[in-house]
This record gives sequence, C-alpha cells and structure tokens, in this order.
Amino acid sequence: MSELAIDDICLGDLEFWAAPEKEREAAFKLLRDEAPISFHSEPLIEGYPQGPGFWALTRCDDIIYTSRHADIFCSGRGGTNIGDIPQEVSDFIGSIINMDDPRHKKLRNLVSAGFTPKALNDVLENVRLRTNEVIDAVAEKGQCDFVSELAAPMPLQIVCDMVGVPPSMEQSVLAQSNVILGVGDPEYVQNIEDLMGAFMVLYQMAMEIGQDRLDNPADDIATTLMHAEVDGERLTLGEFASFFILLVVAGNETTRTAISHGMWVLHNNPDQKALWRADFDGHAVNAVEEIVRWATPVIHFRRTATQDTEISGQRIAEGDKVVMWFNSANRDERAFEDPYKFDIMRSPNPHGGYGGGGPHFCLGANLARREIRVMFEQLFQRLPDLEITAEPALLQSSFIHGIKRMPCEFTPTK
Ligand code: HEM
Repeated sequence: MSELAIDDICLGDLEFWAAPEKEREAAFKLLRDEAPISFHSEPLIEGYPQGPGFWALTRCDDIIYTSRHADIFCSGRGGTNIGDIPQEVSDFIGSIINMDDPRHKKLRNLVSAGFTPKALNDVLENVRLRTNEVIDAVAEKGQCDFVSELAAPMPLQIVCDMVGVPPSMEQSVLAQSNVILGVGDPEYVQNIEDLMGAFMVLYQMAMEIGQDRLDNPADDIATTLMHAEVDGERLTLGEFASFFILLVVAGNETTRTAISHGMWVLHNNPDQKALWRADFDGHAVNAVEEIVRWATPVIHFRRTATQDTEISGQRIAEGDKVVMWFNSANRDERAFEDPYKFDIMRSPNPHGGYGGGGPHFCLGANLARREIRVMFEQLFQRLPDLEITAEPALLQSSFIHGIKRMPCEFTPTK
C-alpha cells in the first residue's frame, strides 16, 4: 500500500489480513484518525449468502461504549462471526459468547466461581508444576520451537485439567482448536468441512466427558455444568458441549499467543527485558498487562444493534452489525501515550485485550494473567539466555493474532 486511501481498506477482505503487519497497522491508524467508524463489506462464508456489511469501530472509547451497552449492542445474533450463519450454528459454535442475558449470565455464573482470584489460587500450583514440566521437556535440547514446545502446552493442560479432559485427549484439543481459530489461514483450514470436522471431534469428546461426569461426578467444571440446573432444567448434552468447546478453545489459543508475542517483543526490546528481569515481581503486574495490550491475541468481536442508535454521532440502524477492532483500540493514540512503544511500566493501561468491559468481558482474564506471569518467571530463571532466532510465522487471520512458529535457542541445561 504505497498511497493508502480509506476507500481501499477492506477489513472484511481476507487479502487485507494477508498483508504485512505494518501495512495493516497503518490502515487502522488512518481509520482511527479519519474514519473512526466506517462501513465494510463482509467476508464470504462458503455455503452462505453474503451479509449486508458491518460497521468497523477503531477507537478505544467507541469500543468500550459498545461493549458496555449490551442492551443496545447484543451478542445473541452472532459475536464470533462477522458473516451471517444460521442461528443454531451460531449458538453451537459460540455458546455463551454468542448469547445475551439473562441466559448468558445464568450459564456464565455456573462456572465463574472457578475463575475468581481466590479459586485460582488452587490452580496456581498446577500452573507452576506444568510450566516446569514444559521447560524440563526442552531444557537439554538447547533449541526448540517456542510456540509449540514452550508457549502452547501449559495453557492447554491447565484448561483441560479444569474442564476434565484426560491427558490422552489434550493433543486432539490442541489440533482442533488450531483449526477452529485458524480460519483464514490455508495451513489450517481449506474449506468449511475442515472447520465443521474440528467442531465435531470436540463435540464428540465433550459428549463422552459430559455423560461420564453425569454417571461419575468429579471435581471439575464438566461435573458442575452437567449437574447444574438453569431455570429448573439441566443443560442438554449439546449445550454442555458448546460451552465445553468455548472453554477449551478460548483457554488455550489466546494465552499461548500472548506468551509468544510477549517473548518476541521482549526480544526486540532488550532494555525492557533487562528491566523486568532486574525486578521480576516489582514489574510483573504491569508487564503482563502490557504484553496483552501489545499482543492483542483476539483481534475482534462483533455485536448487533438491537435498536436505531448512534455511536459518537454515527447513526447505526437496528440490525446493523458493529465490529470492535481490539487491535486498533490498543494502539489508539487517544487512549495510550506513545502506543507503539512497548513499555512494561505502562500505567494506567486500559487496554481492550480482554474486551472492552460489559457482560462478556473475558472470563479467563485472571487465569491468563497468572499463566503469563508464571511462564516468564520460570523462563527467566531456568532458560535465562533464551533468544528468538528468526522472525515468527504469523497466523493469517482477522480473528486471532496468532504466531504459528518461532524458533529459539538457549544454553542446554538439566
Ligand atoms: C491472554 C489471554 C486471553 C485473551 C486475550 C482473551 C480475550 C478474550 C476476549 C477479547 C473476549 C471477548 C470479550 C468481549 O466480547 O467483551 C473473551 C471472552 C471469553 N474468554 Fe478469554 N481471553 C484470554 C484467555 C482466556 C482463558 C485462559 C479462558 C479460560 C477458559 C478464557 C475464556 C473466555 C470465555 C469463556 C469468554 C466468553 C465470556 C462471555 O461471553 O461471557 N479466556 N476473551
């Protein structure tokens, strides 16, 4: 893009997401400055008619406003997908993320007790244990793929433990979530069958685990969900399966992405790495927030207007789709001083990495914060000279800011 023009920016176009990151950043900056709320045509979803288009929100304030007015901007007509898909498919693939209160709240409350800071204290020991096992597995090799061998396994194992997935099924969860969140990248998804196939594998797995927990209750989220009653009725196995899929997919890909981007940005900012290592605990809270702002693992979510309304003076009609671009919110010069600077001491840091607030704010934010912190703490201690040795291979996606591979080296150790 030599002469960038607003009309040439098509956020619904897969080609846009294949362009180098710098060009995309420049496009979002132009939109923020000159057309903060602009209308775009929708991506085509194979097998479904193309929808009417969507409004793109690029400024932090507008995204926070939209997120926090769930009565005006609902999720029940599609949140994960921009394009139109049948309601039952949307319910199936999104569970509570594609639902509105009161049912959203009732289902979310069934599991939210497991994600409070207090409840997570019990999980913390497991996070440490798993992180050390992950490092043990590569320590003697002196080199590895940072993403698949260091960043991915621990968040995967933790969420699988919480939900009740046995270790023998963890690799399948990883493979299917790579497909589900890899839409747009031909390495993972070539057609809609690939995507539906991945959902079906997880669905089958969930049905087996759900049925087993009905018969043999255990101390995990699967048991809680299978035995809970909402409005006097138990969840069906299908509803349980959708919730299960959301938790295992959301709980592993995002944190892996944050850890991978975190290591890459620290590699590119050795002063910030040295600063953090000099006082790990003193900087950890702000550094972890800055990593999530910088990484913005989840690029967007969608809402639908439930009534004629407006956002910052832009008229939005009932039924219009509104897409919140968290990547842009997190680089908004109006909300962040020097937003392109990675600064582990940034405070306040009102980033939208976990969403802009409101009822759908990330359920796993506290867990993710702990996982990222423990991973860097252990990496700094046990593989102190770890260096990234080549540019990361980025996922081609408008939804997940993923890193597929990123080689690293370190002095071998026991
Ligand atoms: C750095 C890691 C993570 C990031 C960046 C992230 C990001 C997000 C975002 C942007 C949303 C949507 C918010 C909205 O629409 O308002 C979300 C929702 C959600 N996240 Fe996360 N997430 C992360 C980790 C996790 C983990 C570890 C879990 C654990 C299972 C999790 C579970 C969920 C669930 C269940 C929702 C749906 C909440 C609802 O609809 O009520 N996330 N996350």
